[in-house]
Amino acid sequence: MTEADQQIRGQFPILKDRNVVYLDNAATSQKPPCVIEAAAEYYKMNNANPMRGLYELSIDATNAYEDARKTVADFIHASRPEEIVFTRNATESLNLVAYSYGMHFLHEGDEIIVSIAEHHSNMLPWRQVAAATGAHVTYLYCKQDGELTPSMLEEIISDKTKIVAITQISNVFGRLNDIKGFAAVAHAHGAIMVADGAQSVPHIPVNVQDLDVDFMSFSGHKMFAPMGIGALYGRYELLDQMPPFLYGGEMIEYVTLDGATYAEVPHKFEAGTVNVGGAVGMAEAIRFMMRFGWERIEKRENDLTVYAMEKVLKIPHVHVLGSDDPMNHHGIITFMIDGVHPHDVAAIFDAHNIAIRAGHHCAQPLHKYLGKLSTSRASLAFYNNEDDIDAFVECLSGLRGAMGYTD
Ligand code: ALA
Repeated sequence: MTEADQQIRGQFPILKDRNVVYLDNAATSQKPPCVIEAAAEYYKMNNANPMRGLYELSIDATNAYEDARKTVADFIHASRPEEIVFTRNATESLNLVAYSYGMHFLHEGDEIIVSIAEHHSNMLPWRQVAAATGAHVTYLYCKQDGELTPSMLEEIISDKTKIVAITQISNVFGRLNDIKGFAAVAHAHGAIMVADGAQSVPHIPVNVQDLDVDFMSFSGHKMFAPMGIGALYGRYELLDQMPPFLYGGEMIEYVTLDGATYAEVPHKFEAGTVNVGGAVGMAEAIRFMMRFGWERIEKRENDLTVYAMEKVLKIPHVHVLGSDDPMNHHGIITFMIDGVHPHDVAAIFDAHNIAIRAGHHCAQPLHKYLGKLSTSRASLAFYNNEDDIDAFVECLSGLRGAMGYTD
């Protein structure tokens, strides 16, 4: 670990002061002081209800919110800030597309294709759309090692397919999917492409225009920003045609006793008082990441993944889900240990002050398909270091022994 890498870690007091080896970054990331301070500063000095007030403080709050939207748009290379709708999280972003686009534009006999490797958030909303419209959901099955390719989509897509919804990086396998290739297949058949970027946007550079996706969801809290703020990228022409998702304050143009017209994109999708503090924190998190730069973030995460995988693959009785190639993991290592339930695994790690996740990771259909009830998962961020991995590997190596096994 270089001095520069140590400096990254030094910016996260929780990692030192709570004496925790934090390896649950796919669930949520820790927050650097600059993000906490940016949100606090907004509340200390600029807080007012944005969009509504005709006074300086409210205008400042509006500007802070709209500046944050521009920062998020630039970060993922949206063609204009209006293509970013602020939401609570990736789940709400996907529900927005399902309830607005899906419920409005799908009809009986239409098809929605989702991969079996999806988080429930990119599966259940589409099942609701299918139930309400008479459309049906078809599953795109990955290989046992998590591989999904555009040619696999090509085999099952038809002219009835209206929506293809696939994660860019699986929260279980950590595998990067060829979203650009999937979008090309979807578009060739007249379907739209919805990509879940919850696990990719915090870890790899994403260019929505290059990927040619129609929608992409992501959360702030997995990329060093506060909880309760997320974003939906949507192609402007589509957002413009879609009805509102939630109705109420500040998403209207005019309201009469028996009708209403709605605000322009993106405000028609942001009903009620919005989360300015969260948006300001998310913009600061992006600036924080970009001060390090993608090259350094990706190199650090890749190096740590290689370091961890090399050791984990050598431990007897430990089985990693997905490919043995660290390049197919993007900091996510999901595993089983012969004879030890994942909840016991997590409890033993916790006793060593190591935080990992155990369970089905909100991907029960994937677990069923793989023939597993639950698994354990360690997930990295660029503030982790080799000492974290060593502590994890040492605990993992002794885990069966701790459960009374002698081999
Ligand atoms: N989606 C998050 C995870 O995979 C919560 O843990």
